Amino acid sequence: MCGIMGYVGPRPALPVLLDGLRRLEYRGYDSAGVALLDGDRIAVRKAAGKLGVLEAALGANPPAGCVGIGHTRWATHGIPTDANAHPHGDCTGRHVVIHNGIIENYLPLKERLEAEGHRFRSDTDTEVLAHLIEAAHARLPAGRPDRLEAAVREALHQASGAYAVVVLSADHPEHIIAVRMVSPLIIGVGDGEMLLASDIPALLPYTRDVIVIGDGELAVIASDGVAISDLEGRVVTRPVQRITWDATMAEKGGYAHFMLKEIYEQPRALHETVMGRLDREDRVELDGVALPEGFVERLDKIWVVACGTAFHAGLAGRWTIEHLARVPVEADLASELRYRDPLIEGTTLAVAISQSGETADTLAASREARARGSRLLAVTNVVGSTLAREADDVLFVRAGPEIAVASTKAYTTMLAALQMLAVDLGVQRGTLSRGRASALIAGLRHLPVLAQEVLSNTAPVEALAQRLCRAEHAFFIGRGLDYAVAMEGSLKLKEISYLHSEALAAGELKHGTLALVTPETPVFALVTQRAVFEKTVSNIQEVRARGAEVIAVAYDDDREIGRYADTVLRIPSVDEILAPALAIIPLQLFAYHVAVLRGHDVDQPRNLAKSVTVE
Ligand code: AGP
Repeated sequence: MCGIMGYVGPRPALPVLLDGLRRLEYRGYDSAGVALLDGDRIAVRKAAGKLGVLEAALGANPPAGCVGIGHTRWATHGIPTDANAHPHGDCTGRHVVIHNGIIENYLPLKERLEAEGHRFRSDTDTEVLAHLIEAAHARLPAGRPDRLEAAVREALHQASGAYAVVVLSADHPEHIIAVRMVSPLIIGVGDGEMLLASDIPALLPYTRDVIVIGDGELAVIASDGVAISDLEGRVVTRPVQRITWDATMAEKGGYAHFMLKEIYEQPRALHETVMGRLDREDRVELDGVALPEGFVERLDKIWVVACGTAFHAGLAGRWTIEHLARVPVEADLASELRYRDPLIEGTTLAVAISQSGETADTLAASREARARGSRLLAVTNVVGSTLAREADDVLFVRAGPEIAVASTKAYTTMLAALQMLAVDLGVQRGTLSRGRASALIAGLRHLPVLAQEVLSNTAPVEALAQRLCRAEHAFFIGRGLDYAVAMEGSLKLKEISYLHSEALAAGELKHGTLALVTPETPVFALVTQRAVFEKTVSNIQEVRARGAEVIAVAYDDDREIGRYADTVLRIPSVDEILAPALAIIPLQLFAYHVAVLRGHDVDQPRNLAKSVTVE
């Protein structure tokens, strides 16, 4: 989720670039840089840290020039350092690149380029593009008018992944080249000037007329206009659109709140999290996880540790890993693990889960586990976070910055990461057949599409929120994985709507909580685990007998549940091990709409912080 800015026109480019990058700061980043055409050479300035560090590095004589590009980096490959900050240049420094997204196959490309004599200065996937362009450009005839464009096409035909790429070349000072492959890029159409950004807020001070570059399209942007084509060189026409949002609305991509934007980003976040890890039919490849030879064979316990939503993802992970890898898994709240004198040894794998990688309790519990000899595997969303730096292995989710306090896309991508880990351990331990592994891998690949399907039919959940937004109590019940999802659904509701809710194992109702069930207490029943369907239905009947309204979350091909529940929120039928990432979406949306209807600050709920860095 990096920030991209470009300018071609009569003004000095640097102030425009810095102003644009500042307007993209809300996206979160850990380093920044600019490149400007200064005479017949490219001046590059970049630095780890916030924009202020870059501005200090620019010093008293910042680069001049009216053509330039700028970047704020959210690290996915390579920790935040000056060298890893964008822009990245080729060997000659004549071509520089900035990039948002992931180049999946960068390692083999980098090895080939190094063998051809290219010298790399960073650990990033992005720098590979600069050298690919350099090599292609050198092979093309010097007089060819579209030489740079052709070189960029040739380079990108070799790369795979999801990205937005912008290229500046000292050999072609009249324009910049931008290519979109999934990650957004928008052109700002000015009067005698053209701008480029990864998000609309950066353009608004200069123009409200924009052209959205389509997927798989390349734009040649000059001060007097833009030429767009596809990667095969066929001309493409894109309309100029007028933006009517104000700057605040624009930061949320037109959504009313960051939370809603992040709920709708889940398909892309899931896609990016599994990308490059499911390329083989029957094996998962988890970059960043390198368990030593023999460790998996000796592994006798896994200990999941986390807080809040991350813990709920861990509960689902515990069930999934035990089921697929047949190794005992404990799941502990980080604030509890520390004080139970845990039976952790060198044959234990501690799995610490944290979106921010900075949660004090999770860090303390992770250190406790390591001090007792366990290996530490982190599942986190922030490259360079304390947890990522302290862990032996890191499995990054690639949700992009999560701004809203209520975690959504981080939760579903954590689920996907833990499912991939479970498949990987199951295959390594021989407890998961190749056929079952292949089916789960195919299911994980398809999950983003199914998540999008859930998000394309939200009317029932919005109507439900309208009807139930004045309730004072709610219950969430489920069994197995459904219980883990019930926990997360309950937390979402209470933390932003302030409506008291409680999740419980469905089988526990009659052991006490049933005393609280009345016609005024809606009960959400998760019904995705087919083996316990009848049992959960009997719990549904228990609460209905007390007059409670029951809202079930069930598959769209479940023809039974409608006989027992008052309302059914449907999700596509899917391998039930993968169901949690879909089943939670209606509950996220329900919590969101109830909070809005109750007039609360959805993104910054009272008393809560995004990252709890104190114990
Ligand atoms: C979830 O919506 C909350 N924001 C909170 O429970 C959060 O999940 C918890 O504080 C853990 O944060 P972490 O994932 O950054 O460690």
